[in-house]
Amino acid sequence: MIPSIVMRLATESDLPAITQLDALSNPYPWGRGLIADALQTRKNWVVELGDATQKSLVGWLTASVVLDQSELELIVVDCSVRRQGLARKLMMSWLESSAQQAVCECLLEVRESNEAAIALYESLGFEQVGRRKNYYQIDKKGQTEPGREAACLFTLTISCERGEL
Ligand SMILES: CC(C)(COP(=O)(O)OP(=O)(O)OC[C@H]1O[C@@H](n2cnc3c(N)ncnc32)[C@H](O)[C@@H]1OP(=O)(O)O)[C@@H](O)C(=O)NCCC(=O)NCCS
Repeated sequence: MIPSIVMRLATESDLPAITQLDALSNPYPWGRGLIADALQTRKNWVVELGDATQKSLVGWLTASVVLDQSELELIVVDCSVRRQGLARKLMMSWLESSAQQAVCECLLEVRESNEAAIALYESLGFEQVGRRKNYYQIDKKGQTEPGREAACLFTLTISCERGEL
C-alpha cells in the first residue's frame, strides 16, 4: 500500500526534486537545464506521496500545447513505486486539463522498445499512427552498445468542444 497521494501542477520550486527523480528513474535523463526550461515553458504535473510533514515527489509529467494539440514530452515515475497507477493518474490529469483547454488531439512519441510506456498509452486509448525508423539514439545509462531505434507516434482524439474526454 502507498501513503496518501497528492497530484498537482508543478512549480519552479520543484526543480531539485524533479531533477533527482529524472536522474534516478529516467533511463534517458533530461538533466537540470531542460527540466528548468520545461517548468518555465510547458504544463507540468507532479505526484507526491506522504503527509503534511514529509512529502516525496515520485512522478512528473510535462506536456506542450500548440493551438488545439498537446504533446506529451516526458512522464517519469520513481522506480520504487511503479505499477501502482501513478502514471495513469498523471496521464489523466494531462488529458482532463487538455479537454478543458479546447485541445482536440493529444500526441506523443515513444521508443519502440518501451513496452511499459506503450502499454500505458494503449490502456488509455492512444492509437499508433506512425513509426519513425532510427529516430532515437540508444545511449541508455550503463549500456555500452550504441545504436538507434524507432519512434512510435501515438495519438488520442479528445472531445474538445464539450470540454470532456
Ligand atoms: C512508463 C512509466 C511512466 C509507467 O509508470 P507506472 O506508474 O508504473 O504506470 P502505472 O502503474 O500507472 O501503469 C498503468 C498501466 O500501464 C501499463 N504498464 C505500466 N508499466 C508496465 C510494465 N512494466 N509492463 C507492462 N505494462 C505496464 C499497464 O497497463 C498498467 O496497468 P496495470 O498495472 O493495471 O496492468 C514508468 O515505467 C517509467 O517512469 N518509465 C521510465 C520513463 C519512461 O520510459 N517514460 C515514458 C517515455 S516518455
